[in-house]
Amino acid sequence: MEMLRIHKLSKVYEGQVLTRALADISLVIEQGEFVGIMGPSGSGKTTLLNMVATIDAPSAGELLIGGNNPFRLGKNELARFRRRNLGFVFQEFNLLDTLTIAENIVLPLTLDNVKLREMEAKLQEVADKLGIADILRKRTYEVSGGQRQRAAIARAVIHAPSLLLADEPTGALDSRSSRTVMELMAKLNETDGTTTMLVTHDPLAASFCHRVLFIKDGRLYNELHRGDNRQTFFQSILDMLSFLGGNAHELSPVRVP
Ligand SMILES: Nc1ncnc2c1ncn2[C@@H]1O[C@H](COP(=O)(O)OP(=O)(O)OP(=O)(O)O)[C@@H](O)[C@H]1O
Ligand SMILES: [Mg+2]
Repeated sequence: MEMLRIHKLSKVYEGQVLTRALADISLVIEQGEFVGIMGPSGSGKTTLLNMVATIDAPSAGELLIGGNNPFRLGKNELARFRRRNLGFVFQEFNLLDTLTIAENIVLPLTLDNVKLREMEAKLQEVADKLGIADILRKRTYEVSGGQRQRAAIARAVIHAPSLLLADEPTGALDSRSSRTVMELMAKLNETDGTTTMLVTHDPLAASFCHRVLFIKDGRLYNELHRGDNRQTFFQSILDMLSFLGGNAHELSPVRVP
């Protein structure tokens, strides 16, 4: 089944200067795929992800999630659609400091009036999966960056979204925590079949994807498939990034896989 279909999508930001952030992007992502998005700073990765996240509307073209065009929905319907179908992970964790890790994770369920017992069961399950069952009663400032990001991922998947969207989830993490986070995202994708879109500068993180799309100047530039060897894939990603040139992975030191 097709999870995401994007057809000739363009985005123009009309500020004092007009910016064409995306031009004529077409792509299809199948259910269960784990797809990476890479490209130089300013190439349009976040813009693309924000449109899939339905946070920002396209200027032209079509975007279908599970066959539905979310931009045709009314405001309340769209909010519900987003809560039910999408999960988000960002670079800066976005957890609330006044809540415990557990309270942060179940937040999306409390918004949807899920029963307490069901909430507890789901919390336990997702915390076990992400290896954070022992820090649930702590506050966000009492745990490590890697644990915070795992909590943010737990919150993003507790309602079993059909599409998980992550923008630089390892951007603020050291290499060891990055690897743990990527291994867990790959495991979630494998065991639960959660379709995942990952924007990253980090070639190591990208090497966990099934395929990586490269964007340059707002256009789809190329695509690489993993095949059965992550090491080789990692090397091909590095080669593509140096070919793309400029600052394709300026925010991230190259890591050894
Ligand atoms: N809200 C906005 N208003 C105007 N221009 C914007 C806005 N958001 C992004 N842009 C511009 O659109 C282009 C694409 O930006 P985008 O944030 O998608 O890049 P990116 O690939 O995510 O970059 P980075 O790797 O640095 O995060 C850039 O030229 C940027 O300056
Ligand atoms: Mg970005």
